[in-house]
Amino acid sequence: MKNLSVVGLGYIGLPTAILAAQHGYKVYGFDVNQEKISKIKSGDPTIIEPKIVSRLNEVIKNKNFFVDIELKEADCFLIAVPTPLMNDKKEPDLSYVFSACQTISSVLKPGNLIILESTVPVGTTFCISKFLEKKSGLKLGVDFFVAYCPERVLPGRIFEELVSNERVIGGICQESSHLANKFYSKFVKGKLYLTDDRTAEMVKLVENGSRDVQIAFANQVADMCYKAKIDPFRVIEFANKHPRVNILNPGCGVGGHCLAVDPWFLVRGFKRDSNLLKISRSINDERPFKVVNYVIKQVEKLKKKGIEKPKILVLGLTFKPDVDDLRNSPALKICLELNKKTELFEMGVCEPNLVSDRIIKLGFSNVKELVDGVKWADIILPLVKHKDFFGIKYFNLKDKLVVDVCGLFYNSIEFFIQGAIFDKNENYDRDKLFYSKDIGGY
Ligand SMILES: NC(=O)c1ccc[n+]([C@@H]2O[C@H](COP(=O)([O-])OP(=O)(O)OC[C@H]3O[C@@H](n4cnc5c(N)ncnc54)[C@H](O)[C@@H]3O)[C@@H](O)[C@H]2O)c1
Repeated sequence: MKNLSVVGLGYIGLPTAILAAQHGYKVYGFDVNQEKISKIKSGDPTIIEPKIVSRLNEVIKNKNFFVDIELKEADCFLIAVPTPLMNDKKEPDLSYVFSACQTISSVLKPGNLIILESTVPVGTTFCISKFLEKKSGLKLGVDFFVAYCPERVLPGRIFEELVSNERVIGGICQESSHLANKFYSKFVKGKLYLTDDRTAEMVKLVENGSRDVQIAFANQVADMCYKAKIDPFRVIEFANKHPRVNILNPGCGVGGHCLAVDPWFLVRGFKRDSNLLKISRSINDERPFKVVNYVIKQVEKLKKKGIEKPKILVLGLTFKPDVDDLRNSPALKICLELNKKTELFEMGVCEPNLVSDRIIKLGFSNVKELVDGVKWADIILPLVKHKDFFGIKYFNLKDKLVVDVCGLFYNSIEFFIQGAIFDKNENYDRDKLFYSKDIGGY
C-alpha cells in the first residue's frame, strides 16, 4: 500500500491524512465542502490543533498530500465523515457514510482496502461492504477488503494520540484485518488488536456509553450533594481516594460529537437492554435546563435585593475545555436559553477559544477582557473549565454571586467557594455559604 485517499477532512480525517503523509504514504484528501478544500489547499487546516498548520504546510510542500473535490483512485480509502443523529428522532444518520461509499465505489479497483473510522451502529461495516460490492461489481473479501477501525483521539492532542493510542481493528474477513493492520503499523506505535467488524463497532460504542453513564452518575452525585448542602467536588475527590473508585466530574451537561450522540446508537439498536444508557442520556441532556432555571432563580433573588437588571458573566461556550468546538455544546445551549430572557438581566460571554465574530454571530455580547468582565458582573457563571480562567482571583469575586457548575473555583488556594446550585430548600441561605475561609470547612 503506497497511496491513500481520505474521505472527509474534518477533525479526524485531516490530521490522519497529514500524519499518513508524514509517514511515507502519498495521500489524497477529498471532501464535499469546496470551501474547506480551497482553504486546506492554501495551507489553512480550518481546525485548531497544536502544530497542525506547520505539519499541513510541510506535507503540501513535500508533495505528499494533495486535496481535491474529486476522489482519486488509491490503494486504500479511509472514511472519516460525520455520523450525527437525525433531528429529534435520535436515530443514527448514516447518509454521509453511504454517500462516501457511493463515491468510493466509482473508483474502486481490485486489491483496494476501505477503512471506516466514523463511529457507527453495530452492523454498519457489513452493510457498507455489501453496498460497495453491489455498486462496484467487485467481490468482497476477494477483490476488495473492508475494516472498521474506530478513532479514540482527544482533541488538542490528536497528533500525539494518533501515534500512541492502542487501537482495535475489525476486519470483515481476516485478510481485511491483516491489511488494515499493515496500513496503521506505519504510523501507530500503540498496540493494534485485531478482531471482527461487529466487535470493533461495539467496542467504540460501549467506550462512549460508559463515559456518558459515568458522567450522569457524577451529575446525580452533584445534585444530591447540593440538596444536602455539601460540596460535590470535595465529595468526589475524597471518594476517589478509594483505590477502586473513580467518579468523573459533574458539569453543565454533555456535548460534542461523541458522548452526546453515540449512546443513542446503542439505545436505538438494543431497545430492551439499554435502559441505563437511556436514563443517563436524559440526565445529561436535562442538565443545561437545570442550570438555566437555577440561574433565573438567582437573578430573581438579586432583583429582590434591589439590583434591577443583574449582569451575568458566562465563562465558556465550547463543549469541553480548551477547544474551539461548539458541537452539541451544553454551555452554548444554556447561553441560547438565557439569551431568550434578557429582559430580566444583561449577559456577557467570555470564550477565549473563539474569535469575537463567531460569538457575536451567535447573538451574544462578547467579553474580551476577563478581568473587566468579572468587575462588571453581578453573577459569575463558569460553564467550561478553560485554563484561561484559572487566573481569576477570589478577591475579585468577593461581592459576586458565583454559580460554579464545573468546579472552576474548587480548591482555590485562598478561599473555598462553594459551588452550591440547584438547591430547592427555601430556608437555606446559600449566599452565606458561598465563601468559607477554611478550605473545606462547613
Ligand atoms: N472529532 C473527534 O474527536 C472524534 C473522535 C472519535 C470518533 N469521531 C468520529 O469520526 C467521524 C468524523 O468526525 P469529525 O469530528 O472528523 O467530523 P467533521 O464534521 O469534523 O468532519 C467530517 C468531514 O466530512 C465531510 N463530508 C461529509 N460528507 C462527505 C462525503 N460524502 N464525502 C466526503 N466528505 C464528506 C464534511 O464536509 C467534513 O469536512 C464521526 O463519525 C465522529 O463521530 C470523531
